[in-house]
This record gives sequence, structure tokens and C-alpha cells, in this order.
Amino acid sequence: MTPVGVLGILVLLLAVYCATDPFKHSGIYEFTDFVAYKVDMPPWGLVPTLRDDENLLEKSEIKFMNEVQGPESIAFDPLGSGPYTGVADGRIVFWDGQRWNDFAHTSSNRSELCDPKPSPLSYLPNEHICGRPLGLRFHKKTGDLYIADAYFGLMKVGPEGGLATSLVTEADGVPLRFTNDLDIDDEGDIYFTDSSTKYQRRNFMLLIFSCENSGRLMKHNPHTKETTVLMKNLQFPNGVSLSKDGSFLVVCEACSGRLLKYWLKGEKSGTSEVFAILPGFPDNVRSNKNGEFWVAIHSRRSMYSHILGLHPKLRTFILKLPIPADVQRLLHMRGKPLGQAVKYGPDGKLLLVLEDSQGKVVRAVSEVDERDGKLWLGSVLMPFIAVYDLD
Ligand SMILES: *[C@@H]1O[C@H](CO)[C@@H](O)[C@H](O)[C@H]1NC(C)=O
Repeated sequence: MTPVGVLGILVLLLAVYCATDPFKHSGIYEFTDFVAYKVDMPPWGLVPTLRDDENLLEKSEIKFMNEVQGPESIAFDPLGSGPYTGVADGRIVFWDGQRWNDFAHTSSNRSELCDPKPSPLSYLPNEHICGRPLGLRFHKKTGDLYIADAYFGLMKVGPEGGLATSLVTEADGVPLRFTNDLDIDDEGDIYFTDSSTKYQRRNFMLLIFSCENSGRLMKHNPHTKETTVLMKNLQFPNGVSLSKDGSFLVVCEACSGRLLKYWLKGEKSGTSEVFAILPGFPDNVRSNKNGEFWVAIHSRRSMYSHILGLHPKLRTFILKLPIPADVQRLLHMRGKPLGQAVKYGPDGKLLLVLEDSQGKVVRAVSEVDERDGKLWLGSVLMPFIAVYDLD
């Protein structure tokens, strides 16, 4: 029996004795309005079984150790300089070939609260003050950097950097609460996701546990300044990427572990469908020059997460046990780290799985950027960027 299996049995034994939470230890104790939603999990038999038995991601080079904390998204400017990345203290930093420099920030109210801390997670309590830039993309023509900041919404900063300006903080009268990722089309329209209108990023575990369905995909037209909701009722939408021909968007839905396709052109325009069922739960998606999609997987599926996804009452019951949220999270993640990058064709076909199945070198991946035969791997949880050579 695996350690996770043993833990599972311990959990059930505890359940017999602890129907309540006398010591207020449960992961959701403070959140009295917590509601678990049923997740539209794909049939277990349709989950891809392709694996990377060689654990190729273990061959990655770890760069910038302890120089960047929690670099979720990675971008290069239109001249090819960089990378630029958003870090846990709310800054966007830029590698000039020699060292990291401050480039931009999203909060106008930075203070000593945003000073260096030991780990990416130790910034969580002050993220709403310091800002947390997640998705980053450069506009190829103007050189402006567009930013999805988890707390301040959709923002933009010029090629000189500095304090970013706010573009969108609400849509259809509902404030953005956990803006996550974006992409920009040739006309300059911006497509972006807001993961939840209920939970902020500093409570992301609550969103993972609840899988409430207030997540949205939106479009912002910078000329008319109009923001349109394209998809709603999503369960933790995360990364978003345009197809190479601009005819559709691919959106990562983290709770269900799938890619959704939203048609922008053609007779299906304005409709959506499932693009692919992922081997695990995704973070960001980025396309390469062939129009293929790299998806960062932050945790593998397990029968445990599958059953709990389908049965919200059981999930609530387990969450109400006197077990700290961190342990609940480990159960959800099968008790061990995972580095995984999966590649899909423009038709939604799974092409390649690269992994570090024990998280020995690449302990977690948030984004996969292919550039000149290399994969740049960002991670919201790690103090480094990993680079994997595809050749
Ligand atoms: C600015 O930051 C301080 C803490 O440094 C915080 O108490 C205050 O609420 C913040 N103000 C705004 C407008 O966010």
C-alpha cells in the first residue's frame, strides 16, 4: 500500500471519531460560506495514460537559483531580450544577460511588507498590497507589456517599465478577483481569465477545494475600452492562449483538468467545446511557432481527487475533518511534487509528455515557453527557472 493509501485510511478512521472540528483545525474552518461544487470530471477511462518513463525533465538546467521567487510567467520582449518574469513580491523583473533588474510593478502602495522573504508562499498574506503579476505577454507591435495581476486585474506598462496602469478591474459589473492570464491578438484585443470572483489568490487552496464556478474568460478591446465576457461559470480557469491562426482560444480549466476551446472565427464563433482532457491539473498554456500548445501541469490526477471532484458532499466532509489545509493539499497532490509539461497539437492531440515524476529537479511547473529549441519552465512555487533543451 502506498503512503497516500495509508494516509487515506487514517483519514477515514479519523472521520469515525471526529465528525466535528473541536480544535478548529480543519482547512476550511474560517470560511463559513464555503460551498463545494461538483466538478465535471472526465470519465476516468478517457484520461491519457502516456508517460515519460525516462523522466526527461530531470535533465533540465536550474537557473537563477534563489534570484527569482515564484516566477510564474515568462516573457521575452519584441527584440528578444529577457526573460522577464513576475515574482512573489509583486515585481516584474528583467534579465539583461548579466543580472536581474527591476522592470515594473503593479501596486502603487509598495512598502516594507513587500521586502524579501524566505519562500514564495511567505508572500501570500501581503499579496493584495504588493500585487502578484501572473500572466505576462508583450504586444509585438507596441512593445507594451500586458500583465494579469491576481489582485489588480488587467494592466499594461510601456517598454520603459515602472508602475503599470490599470485597464480592467471589472466585467459586467462584477469585480475581477483573481486575474490569472492573458493573450493578445493581431488587432491588439486582449483575452484574459479571472479564476474566481469569490476567492483571491492568497486563498487559492479554497478555490481548489471548492471548485466554485464563478471563473470567466473575457475580451478587452483597448480602442473602445469595452470588456466582454466570453465564457462564464468556469471552475478555476487559468492559462489562456490563442491558436496560431487566431481562430480559437485554448483555456486551461484547473478544477476539471481539461483544455477548453473557444471559437473566435468561423461558423462556430462564440461557442466552446472540450479541446483535450489533460493527464493532470493545469496552470498556464503557451503556443510555440508551430502552433502547438505547451501546458504546465501542477499536479497529477488521482482516484482520490477524481472521486472528491465528483462528490462535493464527501469533499466537504473530508475538509471538515480536523486536518490542516496543507495536509489536505498533499492528499490532493498525491503527497509528492511533480514537474510535468505536455504538448498538444493544434487539433488537440496529445503529442509529448515530459516529466520529472518525483519532482527531483523540476519540483513544479506553472508555465512552459518554447524558444529556440529550449523550454523555459516557470514555477509559482519555486525560487528558480528551469531550462530544458529539446534537442
Ligand atoms: C497600503 O499599504 C498599507 C500597508 O503597508 C495598508 O495598510 C493599506 O491598506 C494600503 N492601502 C491601499 C490603498 O491599498
